[in-house]
Amino acid sequence: MAAEMALLKPITKFNTFNTTTTSRLSNRRLPFTVRMSATTTPPTSKPTKKAQKQGIKESLLTPRFYTTDFDEMETLFNTEINKNLNEAEFEALLQEFKTDYNQTHFVRNKEFKEAADKIQGPLRQIFVEFLERSCTAEFSGFLLYKELGRRLKKTNPVVAEIFSLMSRDEARHAGFLNKGLSDFNLALDLGFLTKARKYTFFKPKFIFYATYLSEKIGYWRYITIYRHLKANPEYTCYPIFKYFENWCQDENRHGDFFSALMKAQPQFLNDWKAKLWSRFFCLSVYVTMYLNDCQRTDFYEGIGLNTKEFDMHVIIETNRTTARIFPAVLDVENPEFKRKLDRMVEINQKILAVGETDDIPLVKNFKRIPLIAALASELLAAYLMKPIESGSVDFAEFEPQLVY
Ligand SMILES: [Fe+2]
Ligand SMILES: [Fe+2]
Repeated sequence: MAAEMALLKPITKFNTFNTTTTSRLSNRRLPFTVRMSATTTPPTSKPTKKAQKQGIKESLLTPRFYTTDFDEMETLFNTEINKNLNEAEFEALLQEFKTDYNQTHFVRNKEFKEAADKIQGPLRQIFVEFLERSCTAEFSGFLLYKELGRRLKKTNPVVAEIFSLMSRDEARHAGFLNKGLSDFNLALDLGFLTKARKYTFFKPKFIFYATYLSEKIGYWRYITIYRHLKANPEYTCYPIFKYFENWCQDENRHGDFFSALMKAQPQFLNDWKAKLWSRFFCLSVYVTMYLNDCQRTDFYEGIGLNTKEFDMHVIIETNRTTARIFPAVLDVENPEFKRKLDRMVEINQKILAVGETDDIPLVKNFKRIPLIAALASELLAAYLMKPIESGSVDFAEFEPQLVY
């Protein structure tokens, strides 16, 4: 892919994240420049090599790249220090990853280009944005897992190899999405992205919470779209969705691996701080997705989904899955939780509307203050809703006092 990208000139500065908007870990932030390359002639226009430039708007909710304290990671996975590491379990997981169930799954056909050419009008841009965001999110996973695979090689070769194999999966996912962009005559310059992008630092325990959630929410998003389109094939306007069934199994396996990692670090799951952080990460991930998707209802409606119903289904299922391992989760099935999310959407729309006005930046900032305060207050109220005490059966075995 790198070689192919090198040929793609001229480069286009292209803001894909042009709203206040993660993936998978779709939920990552920091504004950045995505360098896009026009690959070939758009189907409806004359050949052009002119770069397309769009401004970059800063955003709180754009996909993030992560980095962490790799030295601390090494200590955590040192089997001499951490006696909780269940080597047999990790060995079994490694064999599963080595099986590489999806080795031959991501094979394209001519349907892709034909379908892309038929997507015109506003939906075309929405599709491009979907592919870009998803590609960036998958690529973010690739970078983090690749580095963890490299850094843990000496300390814990089994865990390290699993990380490397997960980075293989994410590279495949990102590459497949990037090929999808080529159907729209574009490509993300992933090499440039790696260097130009700012990285968000998270301590290892936060990487575990955030990445576990992002893998599981990714699983539920992909499988829900897949099942919906299987039942309503008339909305399958682009063949990539047909690949989601096997694809989401990769995400599920990645999530299960993080589940095993957290069980091996009971200090991240067994105290009051862990409960507070678990709820915090659940809230961040769910709210980010909800606000993001509510800004892109055209995409979800374009494939026949009701955005809010889709999101609530994904949130509820992810929360139920997460309750097996996190010591506390949010009561997302309480109707008040959705009411709060909907109010956040309304406030977020007002914040976006302020940005669209012709006011000078200072005036805009003043206008935003009460809105941001209102958003923060809704977030806090959602965070303080009575949580659900949870935790895994396996973990309960490890900590007998938690059995209930
Ligand atoms: Fe992935
Ligand atoms: Fe993944």
